[in-house]
Amino acid sequence: MSIYEYICVHLCIYELYECALFFRDKVFRLKPVLEEHVSLIKELCVWRPLQVDFWRPESPQLVTIDIDVDIRVPALYLDMVSTRLHQSDMEHEVLIEDLEEAVKRERDSGPTPRAHSYTRYNNWDTINSWMNSITSSNSDLISKMFIGNTYEGRPMNVLKIGRKTGSGKNAIFMDCGIHAREWISPAFCQWFVKEAVSTYGSDPQMTSLLDQMDVYVLPVINIDGYQYTHTSNRMWRKTRSRKSGTSCIGADPNRNFNAGWCTLGASSNPCSDTFCGYSPESEIEVKNVADFIRKNKGIIKAYLTIHSYSQLLLFPYSYTYELAADHSELMKVAEGASSALRSLYGTRYTSGPGATTIYPAAGGSDDWAYDLGVKYSYTFELRDTGRYGFLLPESQIQPTCEETMLAVKYIAAYVQKNI
Ligand code: ARG
Ligand code: ZN
Repeated sequence: MSIYEYICVHLCIYELYECALFFRDKVFRLKPVLEEHVSLIKELCVWRPLQVDFWRPESPQLVTIDIDVDIRVPALYLDMVSTRLHQSDMEHEVLIEDLEEAVKRERDSGPTPRAHSYTRYNNWDTINSWMNSITSSNSDLISKMFIGNTYEGRPMNVLKIGRKTGSGKNAIFMDCGIHAREWISPAFCQWFVKEAVSTYGSDPQMTSLLDQMDVYVLPVINIDGYQYTHTSNRMWRKTRSRKSGTSCIGADPNRNFNAGWCTLGASSNPCSDTFCGYSPESEIEVKNVADFIRKNKGIIKAYLTIHSYSQLLLFPYSYTYELAADHSELMKVAEGASSALRSLYGTRYTSGPGATTIYPAAGGSDDWAYDLGVKYSYTFELRDTGRYGFLLPESQIQPTCEETMLAVKYIAAYVQKNI
């Protein structure tokens, strides 16, 4: 252990500083098949509230029979949890033996350079300066639109990509990084922008798309949270907003949209990882995005939001089990996009409405955009299915982005033809 780690561990023990090291923490996959198993899993967070970190689903309330449940158990609780698991006879496996080691291995392409790279996990400062430079070197195709500051005062900018025609064009809106720890997501938005500018003029599909439509890309919604995962706690999910009366920080931005807000699959406990916030759009990042989409709702024809992990292509609804009015068309397009994605490396995606495909969870951006009138509204959950989870190695950035491009381009082509 380095001297830095040693000091950090001690500060952590006395809870003086959140440095969040993960020595010997394990990630388990549990396979509940009986009601008793489900209650045991729910009980895990009762012992010492919120010390078990739910990776999938994101909170114990969402656990049901027959779904795989991935949880991170801090080293301190391992004995307790293992004993209970064995007593209950629930099938389970260890996905990650030592999370701290896995965090180190995530950057498997070597020490991170200061300079921006499409195949590395760039921090916010690097992404921010990359946005400036790619905008100025492609001024014929990209313009930067400021949509407001984050809670901690970082500027949120949307990149508007498309041939500048002077007349109003229809558009696709895509955002990444709503959940801080899902690092592959911002990496995909950056990749998309690069592909757009480098294949415009040579790839007929990209050329026609950007001639006819604009693509609005917000590379990181939850910038404060994303930065925090780089400096302090790799496993942070929420925003970083504070409120007097609780020491718990942040809300889940994907439970904070005004779509069945806080009715299902969300928590009203500010300490929970799925806290819905104090009111719809209480998170300034959510409000900035919602305001932008509302202002442009006449031209925005598709809404894409990128998460990880699980390899899913979801569409509305998640706040209700009712099927969306456009269910069959949304399903058909999702299946086309998934098979396009699979054609490259064989990666399999499951498509369907959020509520039945994973779990009901209200307050999501996809449902909100759909109810606003943006028909083609999709949530991607990128690689993998749990081998690395949020800690997808950097060596997988390129293949993940390449295959995801095929799905996004499939949806874009469909939208272009059908509006
Ligand atoms: N894992 C994502 C989340 O929990 C799934 C989002 C699906 N859409 C939704 N509206 N819940 O945010
Ligand atoms: Zn997410």
